[in-house]
Amino acid sequence: MNLEDLLACAQRELAGLHTPEQVESFRIKYLGAKGWFKQAADHLRTLEPSLKRDYGRRLNEAKQVVQRGYEQAKAAAAAQPAADAAAFDITEPGRLRFDHYRPGTWHPIHQTIDTLTELFARQGFARVEGPELEDDFHNFEALNVPPQHPARDPLENFYLDRPAGAPPYMLRSQTSSVQIRVMEKQRPPIRIIAPGRVYRPDTVDATHCWMFHQLEGLCVERGVSMVDLKTSLHQFARAFFGADVPTRFRPSFFPFTEPSAEFDVLFTQPDGSTRWVELGGCGMVHPNVLEKVNIDPDTYTGFAFGLGIERLAMRRHGIDDIRVFFENDVRFLRQF
Ligand code: DAH
Repeated sequence: MNLEDLLACAQRELAGLHTPEQVESFRIKYLGAKGWFKQAADHLRTLEPSLKRDYGRRLNEAKQVVQRGYEQAKAAAAAQPAADAAAFDITEPGRLRFDHYRPGTWHPIHQTIDTLTELFARQGFARVEGPELEDDFHNFEALNVPPQHPARDPLENFYLDRPAGAPPYMLRSQTSSVQIRVMEKQRPPIRIIAPGRVYRPDTVDATHCWMFHQLEGLCVERGVSMVDLKTSLHQFARAFFGADVPTRFRPSFFPFTEPSAEFDVLFTQPDGSTRWVELGGCGMVHPNVLEKVNIDPDTYTGFAFGLGIERLAMRRHGIDDIRVFFENDVRFLRQF
């Protein structure tokens, strides 16, 4: 084996080494257990004694040169990343790669519904759903709303265009319709909540929209009283807003409850002043309603409530304009 050629080859290759991987391949090829210098040493052993001394000396010298070159190349390759880091400009504006693939989150209204579902589940309420497209019977008639009642006004509701004489259909104006749908199918004891969308042709402003969400609650059992209603809503408010939140019930009127009440919670404003905020309506289910669905009002009593979900979410998150929920501005939505 020609040692001058071997040395020349090794030195040419050494000059082209940059990465730690290249340096390691070089080591294996020349200095490894089966490398060229090992083969040269094997060759040395086969030589005649007269040639051994000279070849052995030149082999050692060549190997030392290559060994030194290898160690320098190794050190240089290891230092390479540090040199790259030094070239990194920390004043460059960042590029959030995650942004391109950023996973979505549940809408804040959806999250609020989940929380409400969880809190009422603790009181034994099962979550159900009803259709958003309703007929007059479920949205009004069975709820004891008389035929000429102003709540039926076409200006207050989204009625569908129907052929003359056909029974009216509408986008439900209240989730109370789900009370009827449940009681048609299920006998007491009943304890359900029904979250969902409702529709009214209101002019859009900071507190109104033509679509919003309500959470309906219904409990029908033997011996249920106003005390149970108040306990239920009071417990819910404490769990949702905090144990020290003051609540109150104000006498009110709804066709489907008797007596009826409005449920308020006292909030402290940022400036320290306090304000009662109405969360929804409630009351004892009217005997006429129970009769409509063939539940005997002499045997069973019930309470019901309807809470505005946007209002709850706004209070919870300190939001003062309902429109942000429906504009789908990701800068808003990403905060949840
Ligand atoms: N449906 C009523 C509304 O939309 C709210 C309501 C009041 C629901 C009293 C109830 C209730 O279940 O008992 O204004």
